[in-house]
Amino acid sequence: MSETVQDKVDFLVVANRLPVDRKVDDDGNVSWKSSPGGLVTALEPVMQRKGGAWIGWHGAPDEVVAPFHHDGYDIHPVPLSAQEVEEYYEGFANATLWPLYHDCIVEPVFHREWWDAYQKVNKRFAEQAAEQASTGATVWVQDYQLNLVPKYLREMRPDLRIGFFLHIPFPPIELYSRLPWREELVEGLLGADLVGFQTPGAAANFQRLAKHRPGVTAARGRARTPDGRTVVIHDFPISIDSRGFHELATSEKVQAEAAKLREDLGNPETIIFGVDRLDYTKGLHQRIRAVGELFKEGKLDPHEVVFLQLATPSRERVEEYRILRDDINLLVGQINSKVGTIANRAVVYRNESVPREVLAAMYQVADLMLVTPVRDGMNLVAKEYIACRSNDDSALVLSEFAGAARELKQAYMVNPYDIDGMKATIMKALAESPKVKARKMRSMRRQVFDKTIDVWANSFLEELGVA
Ligand code: ADP
Ligand code: G6P
Repeated sequence: MSETVQDKVDFLVVANRLPVDRKVDDDGNVSWKSSPGGLVTALEPVMQRKGGAWIGWHGAPDEVVAPFHHDGYDIHPVPLSAQEVEEYYEGFANATLWPLYHDCIVEPVFHREWWDAYQKVNKRFAEQAAEQASTGATVWVQDYQLNLVPKYLREMRPDLRIGFFLHIPFPPIELYSRLPWREELVEGLLGADLVGFQTPGAAANFQRLAKHRPGVTAARGRARTPDGRTVVIHDFPISIDSRGFHELATSEKVQAEAAKLREDLGNPETIIFGVDRLDYTKGLHQRIRAVGELFKEGKLDPHEVVFLQLATPSRERVEEYRILRDDINLLVGQINSKVGTIANRAVVYRNESVPREVLAAMYQVADLMLVTPVRDGMNLVAKEYIACRSNDDSALVLSEFAGAARELKQAYMVNPYDIDGMKATIMKALAESPKVKARKMRSMRRQVFDKTIDVWANSFLEELGVA
């Protein structure tokens, strides 16, 4: 494969985030870090295998960065000004659409200037894709930051095959209808040939909305647009590179890292683990409260049990995320001041992102995994845990409000709003017989190793008619 950036390519991914994030420190030194979040985890292996180009923002404001070759594909950084980061990314994408699409867990904020910025930036992404795509190329647009790109791109380049995949939930019409620009966003998505969702429910919500557009008919996963096109609407539950995760987790290096980690945690009998972006959709508050109460009530003994929770800082300039960060710090402090000792902290909370090998080691030592979002499109952490475990004596507690709950049916399901229910389920999972745990793990392992990220990508691209 060529190491130089190609002029035009047949396959493009367009996502707000690039797989790598450019960081500039106070002395002006530049470094690249892996980007956060499930979208990048899922798409990176797809691009490594398929090649082509990834168009996205490199994470720093006011900087034009030249295209470069990375891991077998081209990267085309799209510049954003500081004002666009504020209005398009932090504003419309993450303070309007993100809460609206996640059941309005926090109140979505509507600002007309943010909408103007969203349109302008979506147009820029579309222009960049139009420029890089060869005749008849496939362009796969990702996620809620770029809802308008399919329509803009079709206007610029009717020869392209355009797919769109939404990584997060799609809300019911009753919530969606609050959006002042609801018609424009639906029109934006209908510019694609195929619109994919994580679950059948999300696809049905979108179909119901599409049907209300003037001149559009929609039924049984197909919409006919006034210009005579057919748009397929379907669910494609996303996954991970299961084998890659498994191989990493069972490698000698990670095994050694896991042994060291267990020792650093004081060789407890049981390690409970959680890892998330620090986001209000992840149910961190409910989870930490539940475990904290179990410690306080003496049902968990801090000499025997450690709860390790990692939370990657995320979208730190958006107000609700700042509030959450302070809230969680306070909660963890309150618990640790009442239970445990200086040597035996009950809750080990780390507000950081760790390299993939360290994360795999953490999965390796985790006897019980807590994945308790109040709403989540899929949740890849749940699948990563299953893929990384080689030990059958393991248990996954999973929120029924994560897309993953549709597939990992053998997990210990919880309603994260029900703190007492969650506490009871955690205790049940900890006390379960090895035989039952092993049966559950085997069944979930089959699911995660059968339905890999390759299966996801191939089924989407086949439906798009390009695989
Ligand atoms: P989301 O996409 O909303 O962040 P997912 O669970 O689908 O949620 O994906 C999160 C991804 O980010 C996973 O691949 C997970 O391993 C990774 N991740 C989350 N927190 C951390 C962390 N503290 N350090 C390293 N990776 C993390
Ligand atoms: C979720 C979203 C992605 C996003 C990621 C990280 O996975 O679906 O689109 O990239 O979170 O969030 P960030 O705002 O840092 O890109």
